[in-house]
Amino acid sequence: MDQKNKKLIAAKASLNYVQDGAILGVGTGSTVNELIDLLPTIREKIQAVVSSSAATTARLESLGFEVSMLNSVGDLDVYIDGADEANKHLQLIKGGGGALTREKILAGASRKFVCIIDDSKQVGRLGAFPLPIEVIPMAQSFVARKMVKMRGQPIWREGLVTDNGNHILDIHNLQIPNPLEMETRINQIPGVITVGLFAHRPADVLIVASDNGIRTLGQ
Ligand code: 5RP
Repeated sequence: MDQKNKKLIAAKASLNYVQDGAILGVGTGSTVNELIDLLPTIREKIQAVVSSSAATTARLESLGFEVSMLNSVGDLDVYIDGADEANKHLQLIKGGGGALTREKILAGASRKFVCIIDDSKQVGRLGAFPLPIEVIPMAQSFVARKMVKMRGQPIWREGLVTDNGNHILDIHNLQIPNPLEMETRINQIPGVITVGLFAHRPADVLIVASDNGIRTLGQ
């Protein structure tokens, strides 16, 4: 099965977590795009939909969905999003698409966080994927120096301005033996908006698509 098909079957499986009258949060990325394209099939179940990025909003609106602001709906019943890496504790690296901050807000505001991935993203230890950090532009070099002290190799994602008007540093070759501790530590550096480690708020459900079909971890 090719990767696109794996993304599609993972997205399809996640529809089972959307209950009647759901307030649904939608993530960002190519896996989530498969989900968005399926949402018209369950349109009547969705009471409100909240988006994690301008790109997702545009796609939802092109399918006729009215996108609500998080402030006007309260908590989300379910938040569905992809990831760049996931470990067996359902802790994630996210932010490959640069939408990590809004994604983390929606994950935090959700009663159930369903993560959809293909099997290439399952890892024993997080960190092979460069860890994204959203930073306030004036703090970019300062945060980069702090990350060098933590033995990472920061690379500025040049040309990218996030939906929040900030920059992204991708930290290569960072050792992450303890994702909880690392998330706290990086988030405490002044100028960091958020780090793309989702350890304090991991996924509740991880749907993994492989050649053998779907495997679900968590509940
Ligand atoms: C965007 C993300 C995405 O969920 C992550 O990059 C996975 O994307 P894709 O489904 O395209 O592989 O965190 O900020």
